[in-house]
Amino acid sequence: MSAKRPARGVHGGNRGPATSGPLLLLAMAFFLCLSFPTPGAVATGSVSGVISDHRGPLPRATVLVQGSSQGVISDAAGRFTLSGLAPGRTITISAWKDGYCNGLARNITPTATGLHLQLVPYQSKDNFQDEWLPPEGRGGGGKCHPALTKMSLKDPHLKAARNPRFLTMYAGTDTEGNRSPETRYSPPSRFWTNWLQPQRPAPGIPYYGPEYLLDFQGTPGNCAACHVPGVSTPGDGDPRKAKDANKYGVHCDFCHKIGAVNLHPLTKMPHVGAPGVRSLEIRSPFENDSERTQLFFGTFADVNTPANDAYLPLLKESRFCAPCHFGVFWDTVLRGVAPKPLQRPQSGAGEDLPGVPHALPHDLQGQETH
Ligand code: HEC
Ligand code: HEC
Ligand code: HEC
Repeated sequence: MSAKRPARGVHGGNRGPATSGPLLLLAMAFFLCLSFPTPGAVATGSVSGVISDHRGPLPRATVLVQGSSQGVISDAAGRFTLSGLAPGRTITISAWKDGYCNGLARNITPTATGLHLQLVPYQSKDNFQDEWLPPEGRGGGGKCHPALTKMSLKDPHLKAARNPRFLTMYAGTDTEGNRSPETRYSPPSRFWTNWLQPQRPAPGIPYYGPEYLLDFQGTPGNCAACHVPGVSTPGDGDPRKAKDANKYGVHCDFCHKIGAVNLHPLTKMPHVGAPGVRSLEIRSPFENDSERTQLFFGTFADVNTPANDAYLPLLKESRFCAPCHFGVFWDTVLRGVAPKPLQRPQSGAGEDLPGVPHALPHDLQGQETH
């Protein structure tokens, strides 16, 4: 992680006042509900145009009237027509396609023709050098989603890197810093294995519990892959070395930069030996990419704050959680880690999510300040 660059900002610390896209949208939707539709009004307006990317027209893009359920799919030539709109009332049109950031065209007044909306594809690789954005403090995401952040700071995900139970279990100490003696090994007991056999702790020497680093001295292990995933991109990291945003463990910026999950095609479970971040594809922005200074995946196709938001249906699927909440270590299957909101630990990972780790803005309507 380079310290030269200012931490990336959710809504760009250097890009003027932050606004909260989703929340703004919800607030807008709320007020719009009060003001329309007027019974009897004839919605004869329409908006038509073309969706493209840098190469040319984009077929099968989703085009929406922001804050409504009115939408169409662009045709083979990227063309679309939204009809049944109130003439003269200014609206925002959004467009999205899988692999692209959401695009917006503001201040469109039906009837309008010849609208051209160009979508920017998001990067297909991660920039491991980029700094994570912390949930609190300067440039933090708390600025954009204050109430949500305040609530979420109590979530176990955001406390994962500071959880004393985890840290002591990792480092081989108790909470006072007392350390158990290192694990003693004897040679393999069976000729066909080459595993060393761990021994019981020596009697008479104070013992403070079994821990990872006592057994596997000198290796970081894969604990951070799930507990502090930001220190394990691209390789295994030591969770005790977490700095800045990574002190929050599984933090906002990490979850909202998960662009894809790689599961076994048949079992639909994480590959053996690929816990947490090793089964996740992260999409951090690249410094020299002026078009895409930021990227956040979310559940809306019709918002885009100053930053680059991209709709990602994956966020609604339990596949999203599976790499961290399911694991196989050697031949031991860890199903017990399936958390309560998932509720169906036995049923595989391919189903919809009954719950999410934090309260969502629609639960917080009116509490946010934007
Ligand atoms: C596959 C992802 C994954 C890996 C790898 C992993 N954990 Fe966990 N761990 C979890 C999850 C998820 C939970 C929360 C389970 C729950 O509460 O239902 C958890 C819970 C824990 C807890 C209990 C925390 C508490 O406060 O109750 C400890 C301690 C812990 N892990 C230590 C470790 C250590 C040490 C390692 C490395 C040897 C490790 N974990 C590796 C996913 C993982
Ligand atoms: C463990 C992963 C995880 C963490 C940590 C997390 N989120 Fe989310 N977030 C999600 C998922 C999954 C959804 C979609 C849930 C749904 O709609 O069913 C979501 C939805 C949202 C939404 C709703 C709008 C949208 O774009 O979908 C906002 C805003 C949001 N998160 C902000 C935050 C902020 C701010 C934090 C940190 C304080 C945070 N998230 C931490 C996984 C996470
Ligand atoms: C990058 C890894 C990661 C992802 C992705 C992730 N989690 Fe977690 N989750 C964890 C870890 C690690 C813990 C344990 C933190 C601790 O207790 O210190 C945890 C804890 C939890 C807990 C608290 C369990 C308890 O007993 O208190 C719930 C609930 C939970 N996760 C739900 C989810 C859901 C739902 C998703 C998907 C939207 C998800 N998580 C995605 C790593 C992850």
